[in-house]
Amino acid sequence: PKGLNDYAKKAGKLYFGTAADVPGTNETTDKYYRAELANKHDWGQVTPANAMKWVFTEPEQGVFNYTEAEIFLADAASDGKLVRCHNLNWYNQLPNWLTQGTWTNETLTKVLENHVTNLVEYFGDRCYAWDVVNEAFSDSGTTGSLADNTTWRSDLWYNTIGPGYVAVAFKAAEKAVKAKKLKVKLYYNDYNIENAGAKSSAAQALVKSLKAQNIQIDGVGLQSHFIVGETPSRAAQSSNMQAFAALGVDVAITELDIRTTVPATAAEQQQQVVDYASSVGACADVDACVGVTAWDFDDAYSWIPSTFPGQGYGDLFFQPGGYNTPLVRKAAYDGCIQGL
Ligand code: XIL
Repeated sequence: PKGLNDYAKKAGKLYFGTAADVPGTNETTDKYYRAELANKHDWGQVTPANAMKWVFTEPEQGVFNYTEAEIFLADAASDGKLVRCHNLNWYNQLPNWLTQGTWTNETLTKVLENHVTNLVEYFGDRCYAWDVVNEAFSDSGTTGSLADNTTWRSDLWYNTIGPGYVAVAFKAAEKAVKAKKLKVKLYYNDYNIENAGAKSSAAQALVKSLKAQNIQIDGVGLQSHFIVGETPSRAAQSSNMQAFAALGVDVAITELDIRTTVPATAAEQQQQVVDYASSVGACADVDACVGVTAWDFDDAYSWIPSTFPGQGYGDLFFQPGGYNTPLVRKAAYDGCIQGL
């Protein structure tokens, strides 16, 4: 084995992959970034960090635009890399017509069904999996019960349609899968569900609820946006994965990065190695965990600094010389291999 994907396959996983913001601002012209993205030994799977989101794919109501997504697929996903398609429903990165429109339960339900149907049918089996619903749960819920309104994120979808919007999205996806005889796996994806707690319980309750309604759900994506020194242990992560697996779904680590305040101290850099090993190792420990996706591989293009000011150093590579200069591999990369 010569890289992360090779090692992941040797450990019985389907892939080790990465998100990429292609076509982003500098990602398509930074030849060092591009060379690493094309490295099949490291990346057997890719996720578009932005290109398939609602704001790009349905910029006007009923007008679908797959330009960005097609560039992503032709570029980042070449060489037969698996694609985790991301995402069909989220509260964020929505077009203005949607966030500023006036909706009723009935009209918004139709909008959601139409979006899901179009994307699932259009991309077909070019997607290994779809994140059908992303981040439906709030961080303030305490019970994990779907009947408790503090369990749910207060957003356009929940506030207009109610908790049933998740089933609406999954049902529409399932209908498209069946109509086109697709193999694509349908996932629920969220963060802070990587160890036991109210939010993980809510996600488990959601899986049970969809299954009880005979609605297709194939997997749960554990985003895994962790913090150095606060990453759940390998045992805590693997037992949480097992709890999902026991409900009859796959799991995947879908957006792994492990951030810290910058500049990272030597001790933090060492802890990051341990934290990456624990996370990747948890997936290796659980048969139902199909693979690991890093949420981009190069600190230069990470979403972390803009979302968490003062933080960074979350990815497996960095570019000390800046744009279009060689990438340096961190010790955390070897940590991933140790974990496998
Ligand atoms: C992030 C992208 O990486 C950024 O480029 C974009 O500006 C905002 O979204 N959880 C998710 C991802 O599910 O879609 C988010 O991606 C990161 C958090």
